[in-house]
Amino acid sequence: MQKASAGKAGKPGGPKGGARNAEKAGSFKPRNDRHGDAAPRSVRAAEAASPADTKGDAAAEPARTLTIRSGERPAERVPVILESHGAGDFHLIDSGEGLKLEQYGPYRIVRPEAQALWPRALPAHVWERADAIFTGDTDEDGMGRWRFPREALGETWPLSLLGIDFHGRFTAFRHVGVFPEQIAHWSWMKERIETANRPLKVLNLFGYTGVASLVAAAAGAEVTHVDASKKAIGWARENQTLSRLDKAPIRWICDDAMKFIQREERRGHRYDIILTDPPKFGRGPNGEVWQLFDHLPLMLDICRELLAPKALGLVLTAYSIRASFYSIHELMRETMRGKGGTVESGELVIREAGLDGKTPGRALSTSLFSRWVPK
Ligand SMILES: C[S@@+](CC[C@H](N)C(=O)[O-])C[C@H]1O[C@@H](n2cnc3c(N)ncnc32)[C@H](O)[C@@H]1O
Repeated sequence: MQKASAGKAGKPGGPKGGARNAEKAGSFKPRNDRHGDAAPRSVRAAEAASPADTKGDAAAEPARTLTIRSGERPAERVPVILESHGAGDFHLIDSGEGLKLEQYGPYRIVRPEAQALWPRALPAHVWERADAIFTGDTDEDGMGRWRFPREALGETWPLSLLGIDFHGRFTAFRHVGVFPEQIAHWSWMKERIETANRPLKVLNLFGYTGVASLVAAAAGAEVTHVDASKKAIGWARENQTLSRLDKAPIRWICDDAMKFIQREERRGHRYDIILTDPPKFGRGPNGEVWQLFDHLPLMLDICRELLAPKALGLVLTAYSIRASFYSIHELMRETMRGKGGTVESGELVIREAGLDGKTPGRALSTSLFSRWVPK
């Protein structure tokens, strides 16, 4: 194993991202430079951090650079489509014409869904009975507003998934406090933890309202949850109480994910399962910039170092990006060279389940994923 030395930033390259990436320091060099004579890739982690931030020890440390890995790439399993039919209080009722109709506990909710190109399956009167409709920007994270055609609803309401009680929440960015397509990963993780017969440590990066962290804690793991948003951490703590997991060993950490993992690496902390679900673009609490196309290779590289010797998995989800699952699949395989195991990658999809939650319809793709498992 060899570390690439710090040097000048490589040429823009990699996945589709176009001009957005072109002038960014921290873009990485094309793959054929990997063992060549050209200047080594040098994704400098410090570039993801605000220069004004002196919190923690990151500022004092030299930039962490991307490791050049050797050894065989792990075996592969592609494509893997992880399909969810809903669980607990959630199912997808119908979709079409740029919208989706979902059931979240007592409420039927209509939200924009650019991928639903097909006609709606259910009649108009079913859609018209919606309790909440999000209107506004059709961009995934765009601003907009909620309309409540039947009666005014409060900001939150109780929900339950995989045995975890938490709050659904009408947020300004069309989200409802949970990303139910993640159920596939959460069920996988829950089963691993429950059958491990040993204490496990889970790291949940970009953890949002904490549902994954609570699933892991309820299954018996010790959990470290990281998110840049104080508000989201507050909601996650509320969810911890709702789930009666106040005494569960969960560290709630409001920090920039990239900075946090670098510190953990230096401290020698290790985890058995790592979940990372980064947005395309985000900011840490001190303005640190997260750009998926610039920073993901280094993030995965550090996550590899954070895996315990008997680790059970590293799970990456990516959404709202213009890329094929192959781009994160091949990145994961390069990152995990020499580590054995298998990288399985594909899409997370939710299947329509009709009004009764039991009538299978069309599959709606929500995100890409890649996960390394030891065998
Ligand atoms: C889509 S949510 C992740 C969803 C979550 N994995 C789940 O399934 O519930 C993205 C989260 O990333 C957080 N975030 C954005 N930039 C960040 C950064 N630089 N460091 C840590 N968290 C960040 C946001 O606050 C947000 O909660």
